[in-house]
Amino acid sequence: MQPARRKIFTETGFMKHRKNNNLPIFVVVFSVFLFGVFMYNEDVKSIAEFPFSNPKASELHDVQSRQENPVQESTKDEKESVGSLNTTDEETITKEPDHDLKRSMVVKDGEEDEEEVVEKIELPVIEEDDEDVELPPESCDLFDGQWVFDNKTRPLYKEDECEFLTAQVTCMRNGRKDSLYQNWRWQPRDCNLPKYKPRLLLEKLRNKRLMFVGDSLNRNQWESMVCLVQSVVPPGRKTWKKSGSFAIFRIEDYNATVEFYWAPFLVRSNSDDPDMHSILNRIIMPESIEEHGKNWKDADYLVFNTYIWWMNTFNMKILRGSFDRGDTEYDEIDRPTAYNRVLTTWSKWVDKNVNPNRTMVFFSSMSPLHINSTDWKNPGGIKCALEKTPILTPLEYLYVGTDRRLFDVSSNIIENMKVPVHLVNITKLSEYRKDAHTSVYTIRQGKMLTPEQQADPATYADCIHWCLPGLPDTWNEFIYTRIIARS
Ligand SMILES: *[C@@H]1O[C@H](CO)[C@@H](O)[C@H](O)[C@H]1NC(C)=O
Ligand SMILES: *[C@@H]1O[C@H](CO)[C@@H](O)[C@H](O)[C@H]1NC(C)=O
Ligand SMILES: *[C@@H]1O[C@H](CO)[C@@H](O)[C@H](O)[C@H]1NC(C)=O
Ligand SMILES: *[C@@H]1O[C@H](CO)[C@@H](O)[C@H](O)[C@H]1NC(C)=O
Ligand SMILES: *[C@@H]1O[C@H](CO)[C@@H](O)[C@H](O)[C@H]1NC(C)=O
Ligand SMILES: *[C@@H]1O[C@H](CO)[C@@H](O)[C@H](O)[C@H]1NC(C)=O
Repeated sequence: MQPARRKIFTETGFMKHRKNNNLPIFVVVFSVFLFGVFMYNEDVKSIAEFPFSNPKASELHDVQSRQENPVQESTKDEKESVGSLNTTDEETITKEPDHDLKRSMVVKDGEEDEEEVVEKIELPVIEEDDEDVELPPESCDLFDGQWVFDNKTRPLYKEDECEFLTAQVTCMRNGRKDSLYQNWRWQPRDCNLPKYKPRLLLEKLRNKRLMFVGDSLNRNQWESMVCLVQSVVPPGRKTWKKSGSFAIFRIEDYNATVEFYWAPFLVRSNSDDPDMHSILNRIIMPESIEEHGKNWKDADYLVFNTYIWWMNTFNMKILRGSFDRGDTEYDEIDRPTAYNRVLTTWSKWVDKNVNPNRTMVFFSSMSPLHINSTDWKNPGGIKCALEKTPILTPLEYLYVGTDRRLFDVSSNIIENMKVPVHLVNITKLSEYRKDAHTSVYTIRQGKMLTPEQQADPATYADCIHWCLPGLPDTWNEFIYTRIIARS
């Protein structure tokens, strides 16, 4: 049913398509309405009584009771994990003091610092067929579709064949018994995603830098991308290296890199240390991006995201002055306003510094959480922990707590930029994937969850990050589609 083979997307075609889409306005207005109702209700009722989905409320209480001082814990863990090659990472949800009734969430993230190059022994190189890859027509909305079970072609790689995966995401190795979450393929409604061919992607990456910039969800996606390309690279011809804010996967024979740069708010914040960022009181400088941005200038493909760290608190803390001068006073402004300021700073940086003839820019929309199983009508569930299948009969108004106001902000800004930016619209399709989170099959502050912790998903399940192979591979298929379409 494809009208043309090897059809090329034009930037304008892609942008225009998004502009013509009127549905999201209603969705956004409706979510803002819900949000307004929520705000109102907060004043009159306790959070737990709130009739709409409230993913965080109960979680907040649970975690707080067991987690006295996350900052200290993390510092300790960093010391303990030195000498390991594993990236350790933790994002948990906790509550601000009880007098603050606002929905809040603390995202923690602790990584050791390692500056080490690892050479890996690899599995046999996979031979590929010569069959042409069909590109979807430019008018096709890749993000509108459904999940279909396909254990013939999914997963795109095997967990134990990609040793670059960190312990955070290797769910099967960490004890998960069901594996069907690896077998779902995203099927756009009106077209097909092109067949994934690692060599085709590598050819496009030759002499180039593909860089993911953002938070741990973007790192999740970066790990997926590393696995997607590494299978066809022979042993000893690939290295993995962490250096400052960068983690860099290098493919020698193609002189190509797949990189991750830690900048959870994109702009400067007090959480920018790639190793020590478990800070409760997060403060940003919304107009300050150059310090990070100078590291992005030579990239050929840039994939940005920023979302999860915004969900820490209801308002955002904006520094008065500069970290460099030691300023500590801040103002609090509401989340969408702050998000708008930050993405405006980011868009100006992109428009000024990115040459669209050289560099292709992507922005990933929010990666959703699955904290309250009543959101998807499973009252017997425990967060995402017992979920083994995606939501297959899409609920009209599935609401899992995603702050769609931020989606609105990002899509508006992107549409008005000079440099074309591909919005990777992953939010809705990921909301269906309640089955795909790492849950209790992951690490916490650098350590594998103990059997006791695994037996207590209400407290310990991570319903933020995703198992690999898994959902982020699909996110990368969208990026792959755009990259191989480039002439
Ligand atoms: C989940 O949400 C429902 C209704 O939205 C609420 O009644 C319930 O208390 C919440 N459950 C948890 C565990 O937070
Ligand atoms: C990562 O940690 C796991 C569990 O602690 C261990 O089995 C594995 O060998 C480590 N991987 C690397 C690359 O150090
Ligand atoms: C994102 O994708 C969803 C699902 O197809 C769609 O409803 C929404 O309109 C899209 N938003 C944008 C800005 O493209
Ligand atoms: C794929 O799924 C089908 C249907 O569930 C099952 O019969 C078959 O054994 C599976 N194949 C593999 C390779 O897992
Ligand atoms: C290797 O790639 C870099 C960009 O990542 C490029 O600047 C350099 O010229 C390439 N080297 C060769 C020999 O092509
Ligand atoms: C990009 O390429 C076009 C056509 O080749 C050229 O007109 C334009 O000046 C280039 N833009 C930049 C920023 O180099």
